[in-house]
Amino acid sequence: MPKISVCDLNVNNRRVLVRVDFNVPTEEKDGRVRITDDTRIRETLPTIQYLVGKGAKVVLMAHFGRPKGQPVPKYSLEPVAERLAELLEIPVQFSPECIGASVEHRVDALKPGDVLLLENMRFHAEEEKNDAAFSQALARLGDVYVNDAFGAAHRAHASTAGVAAHLSETATGLLMEKELKYLHGELADPAKPFLVILGGSKVSDKIGVIKALMEKANTFLIGGAMAYTFYRAQGIATGNSRVEADKTDLAVELLELAKKKGVKFLLPVDNIETLEIKAGTTTARNTGRLSPGHGITDGYEAVDIGKETIELYKKEIATAKTVLWNGPVGIFEIPDFANGTFSLARALAESDATTIIGGGDSVTAVKQAGLGDAMTFISTGGGASLELLEGKVLPGVAALAEQDA
Ligand code: 3PG
Repeated sequence: MPKISVCDLNVNNRRVLVRVDFNVPTEEKDGRVRITDDTRIRETLPTIQYLVGKGAKVVLMAHFGRPKGQPVPKYSLEPVAERLAELLEIPVQFSPECIGASVEHRVDALKPGDVLLLENMRFHAEEEKNDAAFSQALARLGDVYVNDAFGAAHRAHASTAGVAAHLSETATGLLMEKELKYLHGELADPAKPFLVILGGSKVSDKIGVIKALMEKANTFLIGGAMAYTFYRAQGIATGNSRVEADKTDLAVELLELAKKKGVKFLLPVDNIETLEIKAGTTTARNTGRLSPGHGITDGYEAVDIGKETIELYKKEIATAKTVLWNGPVGIFEIPDFANGTFSLARALAESDATTIIGGGDSVTAVKQAGLGDAMTFISTGGGASLELLEGKVLPGVAALAEQDA
């Protein structure tokens, strides 16, 4: 059943408590915290601007980093309030407190169209414990609860889930709706052929996703270090490559499952292997076509898919109607090993398929390739995307009210 949307609520002159995901990458320079990628902040602007335009009093809740239940200055959300104000082009108030009399007074003083950001929820241990009293104290700051924090929706915390039980009106924000539309709605019955590209280092991280998508996908293209565990399972030498030696039985099980279901499950046929993981190395070379008699060379480590694999994968992408991509197919952070990942990103950008980038490092890769705008949808979630793709219920979504039948 669809959830009630923020657009279904009367928010004028009411206090709207909005959970957002402002867990953004930062760096420390000259003693100051600098935001290095503000995508997650930008992606919440439609919801905040909508609320401001409707005359709501907007109270934002967020987390930042993992400060383990106590105040840690480098995890303060104050720099985020500044960035948000620049992006909204209106002042954004900041409250160093999340609960209690002082913040309640601040909220009471808000006027329609005002925006207030509360300090990092995770400065309170009660947040991650989903403590009922803490949830109740947060609920005193709003008349209405809106969850727009898709990236944190897999966490059953006080501000992402618990607080919803203490307010009679709850709704999804516009970003949450967009994420659910693509990662849930669009992929419930994807246009076929449905192609899934999976990379990243560990097959164990992707078991749930592979099994769930095996029910719908026509083809899987595998890359990244997770491919080498499949090689080991097939008796192909892996040299010094990263392998999950205790997951080879699982790899065999997944290969058999694909066979049984008639799903194409493609592994790289060649790779780039190297003696050193560093830019400018002169030791990187193509392995040539792999087989049980010819694997990754002893002492070498595979770091990217090879040319033949790129061509093979590009042909598959060209015929797909829906493509979901999660996880890079090589160590793209080092330019010498980025060719495979960037080539696939270009192939996706050129395809007419619905292209969904399911969060995490593949998002960074697509953006680094300058191709973010060419994709149909890029998720802001990491763990949340994976859990949703596995078919799990996200607590932050489950806590929100459904529309009447
Ligand atoms: C994320 O960055 O994936 C979310 O904000 C959740 O953060 P967490 O993994 O620290 O709960």
